[in-house]
Amino acid sequence: MPTETGYVLGHDDPEVERLLLQGRLYRAHTEQALRLAGLEPGMRVLDVGCGPGDVSITAAHLVGPTGAVTAVDAQAAILDVAALRAAERRLSTITFRHARIEDLGAAEPYDAVIGRLLLMHLPDPVAALRHLTGLVRPGGVVTFQDFQVSAATSVPELPLFTRVRDLIVRSFRGAGANTEMGTTMHELFRRAGLPAPRLIMGGYLGPLSDPDVMAFVMGVWRVLLPVAAQLGLDLDDTVTDLAALPGRLRAEPGAENAIAILPPLVTAWARRPG
Ligand SMILES: C[S@@+](CC[C@H](N)C(=O)[O-])C[C@H]1O[C@@H](n2cnc3c(N)ncnc32)[C@H](O)[C@@H]1O
Repeated sequence: MPTETGYVLGHDDPEVERLLLQGRLYRAHTEQALRLAGLEPGMRVLDVGCGPGDVSITAAHLVGPTGAVTAVDAQAAILDVAALRAAERRLSTITFRHARIEDLGAAEPYDAVIGRLLLMHLPDPVAALRHLTGLVRPGGVVTFQDFQVSAATSVPELPLFTRVRDLIVRSFRGAGANTEMGTTMHELFRRAGLPAPRLIMGGYLGPLSDPDVMAFVMGVWRVLLPVAAQLGLDLDDTVTDLAALPGRLRAEPGAENAIAILPPLVTAWARRPG
């Protein structure tokens, strides 16, 4: 359900678990993309909508002990999780800050602003991008990562898997999220006054017998099912019985050798004009 930030997903424990799984599955892409975007040792980085801190932790490793990361989120509970995870890793270069991105100002501009899976949830992502770009020094890095949710699929295409994917897409949209943000960032960057960004895409795929694949799909659907019900989407026992659904997905004709492609994560990056 929408929260005070307008973010569709909440932060109870299964939701934190889901974000941690997501962080693990998309970590390799995130790290490679942040390197390509230009994160280097010594940089001062702002991570917006940091959630449980995966991107902040990856950025802290890339900027090293001479760099620093400020990690910001509007939800205090998830910041506590992020701070705990940074402490477990003895990463003292990350500072956590409870704030809405709209309220951020920078006394000293950052060398880079980064954010993963944030823009798709914002009501006015162009205004947010313009505001956040203003917190970066001229020539600094602006890089964001977001899903192309509708590009999640299975090969071969399986009717029940596709039905669940479509319900997820429609629920996200019904709750105000942009499921096509991956391919929308190119336009957003230019509307926010940035040069056309470079883009790359990465993600995770595997058979339906892969517990991570099933946990990811079920984790998202579990959170969005009440949204789908509220929107009056076409639901029946096949998709609402969450205990039986994994078995049903695996038992579809053709599922045994099928590969599920989880939503691709697109990274866009550009430098703030001088
Ligand atoms: C899908 S989570 C992504 C978390 C993290 N970036 C990751 O990739 O694991 C989105 C996060 O953005 C935060 N958020 C949403 N709108 C925000 C806003 N206006 N200001 C600050 N944080 C916001 C939410 O609280 C949530 O923790």
